Amino acid sequence: MSLAAGTRLGAYEVVSGLGVGGMGEVYRARDTRLNRIVAMKVLPAAFAGDADRLARFTREAQVLASLNHPHIAAIYGVEESDGVRALVMELVEGRDLSELIDAQWKAAARGLELRDVLTIARQIAEALDAAHSQGIVHRDLKPANVKVRDDDTVKVLDFGLAKAVEFAVVRVRAVRDADRPSALRRRDDDRRARGDRARGAGLESTAGRHARARARAAGALPPEGSGTPPA
Ligand SMILES: Nc1ncnc2c1ncn2[C@@H]1O[C@H](COP(=O)(O)OP(=O)(O)O)[C@@H](O)[C@H]1O
Ligand SMILES: [Mg+2]
Repeated sequence: MSLAAGTRLGAYEVVSGLGVGGMGEVYRARDTRLNRIVAMKVLPAAFAGDADRLARFTREAQVLASLNHPHIAAIYGVEESDGVRALVMELVEGRDLSELIDAQWKAAARGLELRDVLTIARQIAEALDAAHSQGIVHRDLKPANVKVRDDDTVKVLDFGLAKAVEFAVVRVRAVRDADRPSALRRRDDDRRARGDRARGAGLESTAGRHARARARAAGALPPEGSGTPPA
């Protein structure tokens, strides 16, 4: 860790190091204005010209700002002083999930208890559900980016690679329809034609009949015997 205890960055004073990640160093720091302890993810001045890291930093700050969930570490703000940028956020005490899993293997020669797995997984799922409903995918979900407090509260961290996805999803669907290999399209056309012939000969499968009955009940097909169903 490159910042010593007592180092000031704007209104924040470094207390101790918390960890090093792909983007920078994270410190426990004191917010001298509000007099509370926070976590401060620092992008060193040496990286200020690195477009990739800067983009990741900005993205993480904006994504966190758009989320508000008990299982996602909250952002308090950003700070800049002498070319050093910092993302200031809720301090999550405790171990990350990879440390917890390692410790469990060492202590008991096996992974987490099912009860703990479920407690942790449920909270991660809730956090992701909240992010997804804002159109944000995390894209770097792994045990090292999940913190588990001593009271078993889980917080998902590190949204530096997160992305808004609505556009991507639409594109994938569009590509699938337009680029389906013609063999697959032909196969579906053949199946449809076989289905029509089978229905004509009274040989339609039970599943096919049920599907058509359900579609009819939902109003998607005209009543039986009232003409050709829409394609
Ligand atoms: N809000 C926080 N509270 C406590 N520790 C944190 C917090 N954010 C990150 N850390 C710790 O700092 C380290 C790096 O954080 P991370 O967000 O994964 O950064 P990177 O984007 O560099 O991978 C990890 O060990 C993580 O547990
Ligand atoms: Mg990380």
